[in-house]
Amino acid sequence: MSLISFDLQGQLESLGHQQLLRQTRIISAGVTPSCQRDGRTLVNFSSNDYLGLASHPALRDAIHQHLQEHAVGAGAAHLVTGHSSLHDVLEQRLAQETGYASALLFSTGYMANLGVLSALMSREDTVYQDRLNHASLLDGARLSGARLRRYPHRDMVQLGEWLSADPAQRTLIATDQVFSMDGTEAPLSELRELAERHQAALMIDDAHGFGLRPHPLPPVDIYMGTLGKAIGTFGAFVAGSAELIELLRSRARSYCFTTATPPLLAAATLAALDVLHSEPHHRLKLQENIHFFQQGLSELGWPAAHLPASQTAIQPLIVGSADRALRAAEALEQQGLLVMAIRPPTVPLGTSRLRITLSAAHTPEHISLLLQALKTLREGGLV
Ligand SMILES: Cc1ncc(COP(=O)(O)O)c(C=O)c1O
Repeated sequence: MSLISFDLQGQLESLGHQQLLRQTRIISAGVTPSCQRDGRTLVNFSSNDYLGLASHPALRDAIHQHLQEHAVGAGAAHLVTGHSSLHDVLEQRLAQETGYASALLFSTGYMANLGVLSALMSREDTVYQDRLNHASLLDGARLSGARLRRYPHRDMVQLGEWLSADPAQRTLIATDQVFSMDGTEAPLSELRELAERHQAALMIDDAHGFGLRPHPLPPVDIYMGTLGKAIGTFGAFVAGSAELIELLRSRARSYCFTTATPPLLAAATLAALDVLHSEPHHRLKLQENIHFFQQGLSELGWPAAHLPASQTAIQPLIVGSADRALRAAEALEQQGLLVMAIRPPTVPLGTSRLRITLSAAHTPEHISLLLQALKTLREGGLV
């Protein structure tokens, strides 16, 4: 047995030289607005817990309430004995919340995207994707063997030209609805129009949007939402027609061949969906925080060209090289602020960034601290 030919040490050194080596950071407590790390309390501007629901008491209570009747683990895949009554209620509820006939739970959003694309597409088909789509949509297309064409970010003219010129029998357009590293949004009405005109199917990945809007989005053929971000729990689902969901249940390999998520998680997710309806102020608070942050950047005299082109909770500041992004993140951490540096391959080369995410759980004081720290970084030439 030997891994010598893999040159693991050489690969690690190469990543290190490019400032691309990843490390996990141990969080000992908390999520949003603050967490504990190395004995320090840091204001967290890097979680996707956009509404602060991850630590909402209603979610904890739901877990306590079902602790006796349900085991901790599901014990098997959904298609074996892992599909609990809580999973079933949750699937119906997710279909209802999104306005589709049916929904199917997946263990993660990554697996949902892989499952959908590999179940529906094959070598003879074409998948069109936005260049900035999440890795899981790209990986799903690759796994399916379909031809993958990536159009420039939100470029509907290019997509239209490709669709017109393409006689493929089956085509799917797949896009992030809110782009995870940019906070920009897909032009949904234009996408629906193009899909209609060219008889293509349209799939949206609403990982960073589900739970944040008061009303469901206009319908698409395939809707994917995640539960580990605004909903504050874990997992994902696909919603669509009854036929689509029935087919995925039998064909999506990342659904069929994996253990179901713990039923207690479904209980917490149902509680989170209730909170969305009973406490609409979390969404409003997030909108206020986004406005406050953007206004603060403008007041600091932030150059217009460097302001985040985003109206969502994801507010990236692009700094260029991986090294600069790491140094900026380190400087923020010294001031008690946790903002992750995002580097290639997550984002294109030369566009490393501070991915600032805002949450309803942040107070104006937290955001003012961040703005003050960014001002200092700017004066020091780091951003
Ligand atoms: C756009 C997008 N899709 C899918 C995923 C994967 O979701 P999950 O974290 O549930 O695997 C993410 C996660 O970061 C994402 O940003």
